[in-house]
Amino acid sequence: MNGRILIVDDHVQARQSMADTLRHAGHQVHTCSGAAEALRWLSAEPADLVITDLKMPGMDGLEFLKQLQRTGHEAQVLVVTAHATIATAVEAMREGAADYIEKPFSAGQLESVVARALRTGPACRHHPRSDHDEGDLLVGSSRSMQALRERIRQVAATDETVLIMGESGTGKELVARRIHATSPRAHRPMISLNCPALSPQLMESELFGHERGAFTGADQARIGRFELADGGTLLLDEITEIDPALQAKLLRVLQEKTFERVGSSSPRRTDVRVLATTNRRLDDEVRAGRFRQDLFYRLHVLPIHVPPLREHAEDIPELVEHFRRQAARRLGGEPVEFTADALQWLRHYHWPGNVRELENLITRLSVLHPDRQVTAQSLPDYVVSAPASNDPARCAIELPIRAGMSLQEMERRLIEATLEYFNGHRLKAAQALGIGVRTLTNKLRAYGYAPRTRHFARSA
Ligand SMILES: Nc1ncnc2c1ncn2[C@@H]1O[C@H](COP(=O)(O)OP(=O)(O)OP(=O)(O)O)[C@@H](O)[C@H]1O
Ligand SMILES: [Mg+2]
Repeated sequence: MNGRILIVDDHVQARQSMADTLRHAGHQVHTCSGAAEALRWLSAEPADLVITDLKMPGMDGLEFLKQLQRTGHEAQVLVVTAHATIATAVEAMREGAADYIEKPFSAGQLESVVARALRTGPACRHHPRSDHDEGDLLVGSSRSMQALRERIRQVAATDETVLIMGESGTGKELVARRIHATSPRAHRPMISLNCPALSPQLMESELFGHERGAFTGADQARIGRFELADGGTLLLDEITEIDPALQAKLLRVLQEKTFERVGSSSPRRTDVRVLATTNRRLDDEVRAGRFRQDLFYRLHVLPIHVPPLREHAEDIPELVEHFRRQAARRLGGEPVEFTADALQWLRHYHWPGNVRELENLITRLSVLHPDRQVTAQSLPDYVVSAPASNDPARCAIELPIRAGMSLQEMERRLIEATLEYFNGHRLKAAQALGIGVRTLTNKLRAYGYAPRTRHFARSA
């Protein structure tokens, strides 16, 4: 995997030799002699990876890293350090660096650390201490969001392991960040590991670190995420993807707070609070033999369920408000406006991708509508058509039927249940039932429902 790399080092020879090695390996490389120059360059040019020396005159590597975090730059950062400053390298990782490499290193070592950072980059996100901006707000005043906030408050105070469950895009990671930020560990690092991105071997050394020579390619000792997150919080994203052998080791750290680096037999202690997420049913995984029952019980002490967006659709207007303002801040200019009609459609769509799908759509609409007006016509077809009508699984509704019930009564039950499923949205219900809106309206009127503009409610 080739990347765009920026090398920052005040020693001309050091940066030239790193640049030569990496260019030879096929990367696109630019060099700077100091942090200030690098920040200027990065404000105009994209980079996948920044390699920086820690000790530099003027702005040092740590300060450079903080500035990068502040400007929201998304490049991975690799710090170069002399052995004497390993403690600073660890500090740098806590401030958001992806990895470090110890001097002196060979061309091969540099290449492999760089390849690893580029490959596993997105797997290892850090949440530097300054990361308490508006992006971390849990928006929504529905009952379920209030209950979620209350649950976060309760668990944040403890040191217990928390399992956060929910469909993709519902806000599990956001919940984890809220727990950390409101816990007594807030001033310590929160580090996350995206489990599906890593092979079992890589996963073990990412979690626990390894000693030099522990396996082929382990040229240097490395500390793992459990050591890195010491005193803070470790988020294991998609925990079901952890291999069963490693699950046993994980259980041990959770219970005994000790572990060993790969290739070492001396136990190390760590004080880490673990949060885990999953979008699968963990009990199903246990039944299928893919997840250890003892680990399941250990994780299941304080479960949190994050509901799918369709179950708290009443929060959609508030979320839209939040995301349109957020998009305007990011893109510049005024927030887009939604007509009442457009909002109504957003409110009734079933959002299989949950809040993330809503957020992405609002961002896209903000880019595509410089005139700042979003009408029902500007919404994508899949939002304004009745998608559930051709998806029987999604449409599954419970009908209270008994033998001997008249067909007419059954029709009424079906109509009522369908209408309820679409939150009273007449057009969608009619489409799903395969009848015209006018027919539906007439039937509802006959049942004693009072018409409102678009929705129907039973008259008192
Ligand atoms: N209640 C909410 N208020 C504001 N933003 C939210 C809310 N819920 C989710 N988001 C935003 O939606 C996006 C997706 O959330 P997040 O990444 O936490 O989901 P996830 O459940 O971890 O998804 P996945 O399972 O795909 O990893 C994020 O940008 C997050 O900030
Ligand atoms: Mg997530």
